[in-house]
Amino acid sequence: MQIRHFLSPSDLSEAELDRLLTLASDIEENPDAYAHVCDRKKLATLFYEPSTRTRLSFEAAMQNLGGTVIGFSDASQSSATKGESVSDTIRIISCYADICAMRHPKEGAPMVAAGKSRIPVINAGDGGHQHPTQTLTDLLTIRKLKGRLDHLTIGMCGDLKFGRTVHSLINAMIVYPGVSFVLISPKELRVPDYIRKNVLQDHGIPFEEVTNLEEALPKLDLLYMTRVQRERFFNEEEYIRMKDSYILDRKKMELAPKDMLVMHPLPRVNEISVDVDDDPRAVYFKQVQYGVYARMALIMTLLGLDPKSKLS
Ligand code: CP
Repeated sequence: MQIRHFLSPSDLSEAELDRLLTLASDIEENPDAYAHVCDRKKLATLFYEPSTRTRLSFEAAMQNLGGTVIGFSDASQSSATKGESVSDTIRIISCYADICAMRHPKEGAPMVAAGKSRIPVINAGDGGHQHPTQTLTDLLTIRKLKGRLDHLTIGMCGDLKFGRTVHSLINAMIVYPGVSFVLISPKELRVPDYIRKNVLQDHGIPFEEVTNLEEALPKLDLLYMTRVQRERFFNEEEYIRMKDSYILDRKKMELAPKDMLVMHPLPRVNEISVDVDDDPRAVYFKQVQYGVYARMALIMTLLGLDPKSKLS
């Protein structure tokens, strides 16, 4: 079987993505049927950057499938500290594991690894570039809770410049008819030019860029909030100036439609007040649960263990 990597949402066709989301839903409904699918398989988690959800949900996913996990959660515990390259590391890991999830602060590092790998490499977040498994989580959440992926007005709010979850989700959603975006951010944190031009404009996707959250809220089907990420700023003063640009609270939620979803890749800092957590429209903790099913489906798909998969 040819090795398939998952570095960007566009590595799966629309049909493959649809099949993966259907598999994830089936896993949710029939978990016992999948409990031994990955018996004797190993996942390596190579995390050169901190993570709670992504790493642990990958570990939970592989264990739920009957497999085991090796890896590191901190590059300082690995031979990266001695100067070992990502290319050499993945050659080593290919001898130990059947599949690998890699998070790295440098954009493109998982792609470099994939070029030298004998096992599927999954991008678990590369710098400010992409976070495609968060996107699988987001797509599954939207499909389950909205009932569709088409004809949606999606608000994205916060750090749209460095927000890799935002970049990946925009990339994934443009294939669905009737999707439009309201991009809500300070001027300094607007989406990068390549997203505006190569992804949105070149595909004729309707979008507007605004700075006011309250004005945008009434027209949204879903609001995707993001954190202003301290770790992506070179200048602490700039971060402090930007960090509380948007705070969604119970009062602002009164402006939103009754069926608008509030999503967030998490972790949150101040951008969603805890008084929103009990609002039935706030689905960011459900989103975390869907992340496990999405990653189980991805592991199965890349390992060729989904009998109905079109991948070969
Ligand atoms: N959503 C997400 O990537 O969270 P972690 O950084 O905790 O993995």
